[in-house]
Amino acid sequence: MARTAVYPGSFDPVTMGHMDLITRTAGLFDQMVVAVLINSEKKSPLFSLDERVIMLKDACKNIPNVSVECFEGLLVDFVRSKGDAVIIRGLRELMDFEMELQMAQVNRIASGEGAEGIETLFLPTDPKYSHISSSVVREYARYRVPLKGFVPENVLNTMMEKGIVTSTKED
Ligand code: PNS
Repeated sequence: MARTAVYPGSFDPVTMGHMDLITRTAGLFDQMVVAVLINSEKKSPLFSLDERVIMLKDACKNIPNVSVECFEGLLVDFVRSKGDAVIIRGLRELMDFEMELQMAQVNRIASGEGAEGIETLFLPTDPKYSHISSSVVREYARYRVPLKGFVPENVLNTMMEKGIVTSTKED
């Protein structure tokens, strides 16, 4: 039976931590779908949905079993549309766990009882990326802090093109 992992998120923007998780998950599953939420509650994203998807697709282009899609509405409905699929979420620190546990439980309740319920698997973030989050990237970008090592090269280039960061170098 082919197994699919769905990795949902806002990805505003995709970070090195996300990429680590994507690469590791892709090695564990037949197919992996990175699912970008449309209409996030976040009022002012740094990047438009199109930009986020383009950057993700570019960053994942060399991982053959990874695709990037958008979804709207309930995550469990999207996951169900992928057949026999599980949700993947990363854990950077203990604080993440509280929220992620609640989300996993809610998603399971919303998707059915017993074997019907959609499972969430947690992957611990590689310690070298545990300080990185999209919100840290957005905040640092506001203060022009160099972001090399925080986001993939293509994201850094897009940020430069948009004038969000002024340098790709740390010096
Ligand atoms: O990267 P994020 O912002 O932490 O991702 C959050 C996301 C997209 C996984 C979550 O908000 C989500 O699944 N939204 C879709 C609506 C939904 O199904 N909500 C129920 C779970 S709380």
